[in-house]
Amino acid sequence: MPYTFAASEKLFARAQRSIASGVSSGIRKLEQPVPLYFTHGAGPRLWDVDGNEYLDYAIGQGALLYGHAPAGLAEALGAQARRGTHWAAQSELEIEVAERLQAMIPSAELVRFNNSATEVVTAAFRLARAHTGRPLILRFEGHYHGWADEGLVGYANPPGRWGPDEDPARIHPSQGVIPAVLDQFVVARWNDPDHLRRRVEEYRGRIAAIVFEPILCNTCCLEPVEGLMRTIRELCDRDGMLMIADETITGLRFGASCAQGYLGFRPDLTILGKAVGGGTPFAVLAGTRAAMGKILSGEVVHAGTLNGNPLCLAGSRWCLDFVAGLGAGHPAAINALGRRLMDGLAALGRSHGVPLRPQGPGLAFHAVILKPGSAEGPIRDYRDYVGRHDAARWAHLRRCLLEEGVRAIERGLWFTSLAHTGADIDETLRRAAPAFSRHAASWRPPQ
Ligand SMILES: Cc1ncc(COP(=O)(O)O)c(C=O)c1O
Repeated sequence: MPYTFAASEKLFARAQRSIASGVSSGIRKLEQPVPLYFTHGAGPRLWDVDGNEYLDYAIGQGALLYGHAPAGLAEALGAQARRGTHWAAQSELEIEVAERLQAMIPSAELVRFNNSATEVVTAAFRLARAHTGRPLILRFEGHYHGWADEGLVGYANPPGRWGPDEDPARIHPSQGVIPAVLDQFVVARWNDPDHLRRRVEEYRGRIAAIVFEPILCNTCCLEPVEGLMRTIRELCDRDGMLMIADETITGLRFGASCAQGYLGFRPDLTILGKAVGGGTPFAVLAGTRAAMGKILSGEVVHAGTLNGNPLCLAGSRWCLDFVAGLGAGHPAAINALGRRLMDGLAALGRSHGVPLRPQGPGLAFHAVILKPGSAEGPIRDYRDYVGRHDAARWAHLRRCLLEEGVRAIERGLWFTSLAHTGADIDETLRRAAPAFSRHAASWRPPQ
């Protein structure tokens, strides 16, 4: 029998009387048929208040690279909580975490800690402007850099308002943003090195930094085309701009040295979040000594009451040791698992007449469903994604999967975690089969 969600519906109705719109982060409201309320998780599994059990591929929007409630992490957090939850001061723990990061990520010559990647993005942009004395940040369409004023300019420009191919618009999705913020950004399309060169040429001498998700997980799951990382590095070196890798999602997931090691490039600044704290509110700004110069000198303000919080540090130390202990087999093992899942889902799509084309390296992938009449071949960038991915059809399939106990992220992204096994993938595909049948039988395109 497909799952039902009566207890979550009841709690959501109650929540709306005390929590603004019932949720603590806007996008959670979008979950269909209702934002779910969870009771506990273990490894790749998660249980909700209706007693439904899910094989979870959302894993805390990617933060739970280690699966739900890994025993070692719970012990590390418990032991630290008994010694103290917060000092707003120094501890040897923070040096231990910093030294581990230095050892794992060659470009992390120095680090600073915050509690969310959104904060770290703000710090990185400030640092880049101070370092270069220039006002502009170049960013790419479809890349997400947190929810602050500066993180969202040009992120998901609505079709019809996204501007010419050569000059993507600088639209912010939120009201209440300081208007001048929009002028501090240059927006470029992803995965087109020649277009990037032209954008840099047009604003040459005024750009402080180029920021990007090395493997774009916030729009489809788009690996960079051959030569793109090299082009960014070359342009940054030529013009004295900082190369900022936003590894909030990719950090540790793509290996101990993150996506920069996996793809083979060296940024000036790196933003880490999610997996580096294993579900605690922890994020890291890492960089070369030169790029961190203005923080070293004190000319750039970087602060926060909860920075270097010992609970988060204890969690992070456990996560870093866990990833270091995986050795050279990471991320190949979870990439292979993810690819097995992608292949199995594509096969289900074929046998049920669903034009599903999973895209991504494996450990992260996007369930692309082609719109009727769309061309085949990998999605390349944000405009291509909006043009060819059938978001309404995916939403329908996602709900069918949820009702059979398979949970992917609403926008179509799937993560395999270090807790998923081959047996979990097989069980996922067995559960997914009736979901595909129900979807194929009941899907009707919106009129
Ligand atoms: C690439 C990227 N950067 C920054 C952020 C912001 O992180 P946080 O939600 O921890 O502020 C996110 C969050 O999803 C992200 O995916």
